[in-house]
Amino acid sequence: MRTVRLSLWLSVLLLGLAGLLVTLGDPVTAQESTPVSPATNVTISIANMAFAPHTVVVATGATITWRNDDAVPHAVHSLEGWFESGELSAGASFEWQANQPGTFRYRCALHPAMEGVIIVMPGGAIAPLPFDGQPVENVYRDSCGGCHGPHREGATGPALIPERLTGTDEQYFDVIKNGKPGTVMPAWGALGMSDEEVWALVGYIRSAVTAEEVQWEMEQIADSREVLVDESTLPAAPTHDGNLDNLLLVTEREARSIAVFDGDTHRLLGHIPASYRAHGYAFDPTSDRWAYNVGRDGWLFKIDLYTLQAVARVRVGLDSRGLAISDDGRYVIVGNYIPATAVILDAKTLEPLQVIHTDGTDPDGNFVHSRVAITSDVAPSLVGPYFLIGLKEAGQVWRIDYSQPDFPIERVENVGRILHDGFLSPDNTRFYVASQKDNWMAVIDVATMTVVERISTGKTPHPGSGATWEVNGTVYGATVHAGEGKVTIWDLSNNQIVAEIPTGGPGLFIRAHPKNPYIWADSVFAEQPNRIYIIDKQTFELVHVIEEGIQTLHPEFTADGRYVYVSDWQGNVVRVYDGLTFEKVAEIGGVTTPTGIFSTERRLETLGH
Ligand code: HEC
Repeated sequence: MRTVRLSLWLSVLLLGLAGLLVTLGDPVTAQESTPVSPATNVTISIANMAFAPHTVVVATGATITWRNDDAVPHAVHSLEGWFESGELSAGASFEWQANQPGTFRYRCALHPAMEGVIIVMPGGAIAPLPFDGQPVENVYRDSCGGCHGPHREGATGPALIPERLTGTDEQYFDVIKNGKPGTVMPAWGALGMSDEEVWALVGYIRSAVTAEEVQWEMEQIADSREVLVDESTLPAAPTHDGNLDNLLLVTEREARSIAVFDGDTHRLLGHIPASYRAHGYAFDPTSDRWAYNVGRDGWLFKIDLYTLQAVARVRVGLDSRGLAISDDGRYVIVGNYIPATAVILDAKTLEPLQVIHTDGTDPDGNFVHSRVAITSDVAPSLVGPYFLIGLKEAGQVWRIDYSQPDFPIERVENVGRILHDGFLSPDNTRFYVASQKDNWMAVIDVATMTVVERISTGKTPHPGSGATWEVNGTVYGATVHAGEGKVTIWDLSNNQIVAEIPTGGPGLFIRAHPKNPYIWADSVFAEQPNRIYIIDKQTFELVHVIEEGIQTLHPEFTADGRYVYVSDWQGNVVRVYDGLTFEKVAEIGGVTTPTGIFSTERRLETLGH
């Protein structure tokens, strides 16, 4: 028994825990290994802006070598001051001898998002191994796979793949060790997992999954489709007394649910369990009954607004963002981050009809698999029966004709770098898309699919669903910025900027309503993130600043334009303000981490995002 154990230990030493997935399952191979020595050498490659493996487990006395296999310089920096490589140019190496047991975290001093962990076991070979030598892959499969999916693709819990995990190691260590209160994510520390084991899992979820594992094509989508409520059993009339033309749906970001408010009476009508971090909403233009919602775990829900429940769901991807519905209510399109696809579905049944691979050449000439940043639909009566999608990395906008059986695509390239969100002109002839790296709003002629202008608005424009309005025959558009505190307004007829209004800091959302004389913008990422800026549509003057709550965002008008709803994300309330006097008329609790607000009035609007 002891030899097996020692040999296993050696494999761990040689491979590092994250790399150990391959061989440890086979004790025979392990037994044939060379004799055990408590100290050994491990090389960590710095490549593609990451440390590989992310987590290594070594015995006391081991020598760790970092080798820079990237074209750019890096620098290994111990968070607790144990080692410091200084700048390592391409090809250079750095060594550190691990003489002390413990968990040693480090990052690249030049690229702080690159992190790694070294676990140094005390006493060499006799120390108990993390998970008693079981491969971390098996531990994942047994303890986590049930909720996070056998291939880390996500299920009850979100996908645990590097493309999605943009937080720090510390955050993920904390979630795994201490759980997530208010959710089903267990506290594994309390269940007996050691800190080393938790680090090993952080390393594992940071490791790449193979292409096969992230595959999510027509077959997987179709297999995931589920009817939750038989529609033939649904009542013919609404079971609540809210005004269906004036409902406000509020994403409860950390609670996997949607809070529904009646915009006439400002009552909370209920909560609809739905997707993880619900991101996109669409309302059936042909009926007041159906809404659609997609979240960051890739589940698309069909929601019955009469009974406030989801009736069907389908998993369109592993990480999804926006969606749009065709004017005839027949098709829904969802844009995915993972994999790089857009999916067209039958809106009635949620059957997938087409998976579009969003690959293309970016503005720098590189071929990329591109996330889909924005989805929108164009009114057939105005321009044509089209969906528009924006390819984030590829910097292209595609126009998909949904009236044709094979959904033909027209493309416009070189729109900008890192496309994000945007909106249509009221007549649908122009599509305004934020290029966050080039700091402009690109203007696309939807009929000819050409870029007609690039408006340099400011740092990292982020219009959300945008704001457009008309004053004396002139139509204006506006955006806030995720990179600076400013509202930029331009004339849609000539794309000239007419006003730039400073705010307290970066914001995400700006809204206007035809029946309200003001535009409302948040500054949710400002140093003081609880201010809403109210600007006159005609004079572009800042007329009022609401300062209330903890972190406030996403102002949205009720259908008549009289009231404005604002979420307080950290304050767990939604506030309602009078749209003319700016007085608070209601403060509604009973919501968890409210963020995006979407009005059923959008049913008749064509919108991006
Ligand atoms: C019973 C279901 C369940 C099990 C088992 C489970 N998780 Fe989770 N986990 C969740 C849910 C649900 C969330 C999302 C919580 C929230 O809403 O923020 C989550 C969140 C996480 C997150 C944070 C992800 C993010 O993007 O913020 C990590 C990391 C994580 N889990 C890792 C693990 C690991 C590792 C295991 C196994 C040791 C595990 N989980 C087991 C349900 C589970």
